[in-house]
Amino acid sequence: MPTPPDVVIVGGCGHVGLPLGLAFADRGLSVALYDLNRNAVDKVNRGELPFSEPGAADVLERVLATGRLRATADPAATASADHVVVVIGTPIDAHLNPDLDAVRRAIDDITANLRDGQALVLRSTVYPGVTAMVERLVADKGIDVDVAFCPERIAEGTAMTELFELPQIVAARNPRAVERAAKLFQNLTHEIVVLEPEEAELAKLFTNTWRYIKFATANQLYMIANDFGLDYERIRSAVAYNYPRASDLPGAGFAAGPCLFKDTMQLAAFNNNNFLLGQASVMVNEGLPLYLVARLEERFDLPSMTVAVLGMAFKAESDDIRSSLSYKLKRILHFKARAVLCHDPYVTSDPDLVSLDDVLGVADLLVIATPHAEYANLDTDVPIVDIWNVRGQGVRV
Ligand SMILES: NC(=O)c1ccc[n+]([C@@H]2O[C@H](COP(=O)([O-])OP(=O)(O)OC[C@H]3O[C@@H](n4cnc5c(N)ncnc54)[C@H](O)[C@@H]3O)[C@@H](O)[C@H]2O)c1
Repeated sequence: MPTPPDVVIVGGCGHVGLPLGLAFADRGLSVALYDLNRNAVDKVNRGELPFSEPGAADVLERVLATGRLRATADPAATASADHVVVVIGTPIDAHLNPDLDAVRRAIDDITANLRDGQALVLRSTVYPGVTAMVERLVADKGIDVDVAFCPERIAEGTAMTELFELPQIVAARNPRAVERAAKLFQNLTHEIVVLEPEEAELAKLFTNTWRYIKFATANQLYMIANDFGLDYERIRSAVAYNYPRASDLPGAGFAAGPCLFKDTMQLAAFNNNNFLLGQASVMVNEGLPLYLVARLEERFDLPSMTVAVLGMAFKAESDDIRSSLSYKLKRILHFKARAVLCHDPYVTSDPDLVSLDDVLGVADLLVIATPHAEYANLDTDVPIVDIWNVRGQGVRV
């Protein structure tokens, strides 16, 4: 890129970084996507998405053609732009505690290339206090940058609309940093909500935790109704019908993916492992595959059956298998059933998947684990377990 970009996104070829970069570039900014994943960098520069995100392919083609976007694995790219946005992954470790070093390592990697006067925007979902830690890190290295925390709140699959529709929380310690970050995101949305950095860090964790607890509530109510021999979905839709106070009661289903569980655990760790509602939600949501198989064992002779898991992505119409409970279900069934087959119309990263025709040809039982629309009208006499109610025929098991 001959002229320096307006924005460099660190982690720019990831699920959050790439849609953000595309959105900025589509709004006229020049963008460099810096990422350690060379394979993803090459794909983006060839005009290919490294993962599926509806609406993103057209924008990628358009902004590559204008020259306003490029991906790079060269950390020196971070020196070139006024704004450096960091959206690397922030996982939890084997003890379910946040890997506090993830952001520190990324900042260490890029500080050699940061320069005075830049705006450094953290956008990953972080453990409370990480913004302050980053402020200290750059100050200790003698670099005078404006640090802000502006959490991403999009959901995968709707990024290319939500980036332009959701209000943006902007937080920083000084007014100039707030103003610079707000101005950057006003390229996407005019609704800016200003908080203190620690408030914003909690706001993002509360956002995901609230959603995770809601799903756990629904899943527990599902188990109560199901154990009583009743169809939770019939009850839920009656409760929600023309009754605004309960209209947001979710249906049952696997609450999984790379964010909700992880961020609930981040909040628990932050509160000295004292987060009863969050931890109870983990037990319910992570326990649902076990509950399901226990119920199936009561109804079917699993050791003599080939069971098919339909849908391996963590959510509908997605190819993202990160932390998908479909894989937990698969593991449990491997232990209980004669054989297990898995299918997903979107997932390309799992060589063990088989075609739907192969599944329908041999399976004795089908379990819809991901509510892909393709499963709504399966033409088969094989029994189907559908806790998501994809087929609209109830969720009893
Ligand atoms: N996935 C979502 O729907 C979603 C939504 C809102 C917020 N978030 C948060 O956004 C953050 C990123 O999540 P994601 O799903 O995009 O993760 P991801 O793994 O898809 O993307 C992260 C990218 O960062 C790159 N990377 C890692 N370390 C790097 C480094 N030091 N320098 C340069 N690149 C580096 C990786 O190669 C990867 O491409 C997380 O904190 C997550 O909690 C995710």
